[in-house]
Amino acid sequence: MKINGDVVSLDVEPWVSLLDALRERLGLTGPKKGCDQGACGACTVLADGMRINSCLALAIQYDGSEITTIEGVSHPLQKAFVRHDGFQCGYCTSGQICSAIGMLAEHASGMPSAVTVSDELSEAEVRERMSGNLCRCGAYNGIVDAIMDVAGEEER
Ligand code: FES
Ligand code: FES
Repeated sequence: MKINGDVVSLDVEPWVSLLDALRERLGLTGPKKGCDQGACGACTVLADGMRINSCLALAIQYDGSEITTIEGVSHPLQKAFVRHDGFQCGYCTSGQICSAIGMLAEHASGMPSAVTVSDELSEAEVRERMSGNLCRCGAYNGIVDAIMDVAGEEER
């Protein structure tokens, strides 16, 4: 597979999760293991541009795919999270940012959410679309402000 732009060859048992392959085999510790059962979003990475919970994915499913972890991200959201205090301990942050990148692409492609009433990316939309990413520090207001800031810039 391609990881953060580099072609990587991995020999893994079929039961190894993508998260464990990234963290334990490749030393990419940006994606975090919060719950290891798809409930927190700390492990979110981009697979061929789509956000996924890497703890729920088997590494072998992504044979030939392009995976992006926070280590391979260069996006205005990163500075926006700093500007808006979108974190405290930072444990959820790499997942939040990867998820937000995927979320903005989903919204731009016209994919609706449970609260969609128009094309506008409202605060309610952002909160709903980011609801799979938990923050134990409760930095949600800053996270939403950072995403709204960048989404606004992209529209301007
Ligand atoms: S560690 Fe994957 S969703 Fe929590
Ligand atoms: S910043 Fe601590 S869990 Fe989100």
